[in-house]
Amino acid sequence: MTFETLILEKHDNVGLVRLNRPEAYNALNDQLMDELTAALDALEADDSIGAIVLAGSDKAFAAGADIKMMREWGMMDVFKRQFITANWERASRCRKPVIAAVSGLALGGGCELAMMCDIILAAENARFALPEITLATIPGAGGTQRLTRAVGKSKAMEMILSGRPMFAEEAERCGLVSRIVPLADLVQEAVTLASRVAGFSQPVVALAKECVNRAFESGLSEGVLYERRMAYITFGTEDQSEGLAAFVEKRPPQFIHR
Ligand code: CAA
Repeated sequence: MTFETLILEKHDNVGLVRLNRPEAYNALNDQLMDELTAALDALEADDSIGAIVLAGSDKAFAAGADIKMMREWGMMDVFKRQFITANWERASRCRKPVIAAVSGLALGGGCELAMMCDIILAAENARFALPEITLATIPGAGGTQRLTRAVGKSKAMEMILSGRPMFAEEAERCGLVSRIVPLADLVQEAVTLASRVAGFSQPVVALAKECVNRAFESGLSEGVLYERRMAYITFGTEDQSEGLAAFVEKRPPQFIHR
């Protein structure tokens, strides 16, 4: 597949998607979001791929929704074209794990796109912000919800109401990102992590991911019940039998993703 606004590469069992609109700090226009949706559809359908990395450039993961595009729209335009709903949410619906490798700016919709991913690795130069308030609008791709769940009410309120950016160290301290990686190593580190995840049983990885996401959708006892049911389901997979047998027989497991 060929794209104009992103680069899609396969690295063994990992799909790497690089956002690529250097002339606009990877601002997210319709074409880019349509192409990202198509790229994620293709990677999801590809059985040789077990995990996905989403990256930008050294200076920008993405500077948010394309302001020049939005400038043309009134309320009925965004309503009719289902702005965001139509083509922004594919990353949050992926069954395969998606790791965001964030370097440089992750602003507005760029920050929201990173937060749709399962893990965020950040370079030292990463800068996260939801500056929509400076444009007299508000985050519309999940930012008010996902940032609040990630960092708590007070910090989310400060960022959303004032537009204050958060740099990598603060983002790591408050749990928005899982860890900071040197800029030069970021994408390779994300691919290495994705490859490790992809080497485990893919259906069991998908169940584990579903369970973690359930924590955001349910109360504790419901979530624990959901987790228990999913744990029981792993006992019905060939991979779980293999994983336990390999441990007892002191050999590496051979997972067949069933
Ligand atoms: N949309 C469209 N174009 C953008 C853009 C965006 N979000 N961000 C940058 N660009 C474009 C600029 O218009 C400029 O294009 P031209 O050369 O044609 O003028 C080019 O990228 C370079 O930008 P600057 O000249 O501004 O470069 P800079 O280094 O001085 O600043 C920046 C870079 C800090 C990213 C600044 O451009 C900026 O603040 N961008 C806007 C960030 C923002 O407000 N994002 C939130 C968008 S709203 C949103 O995302 C809604 C939602 O929830 C879905």
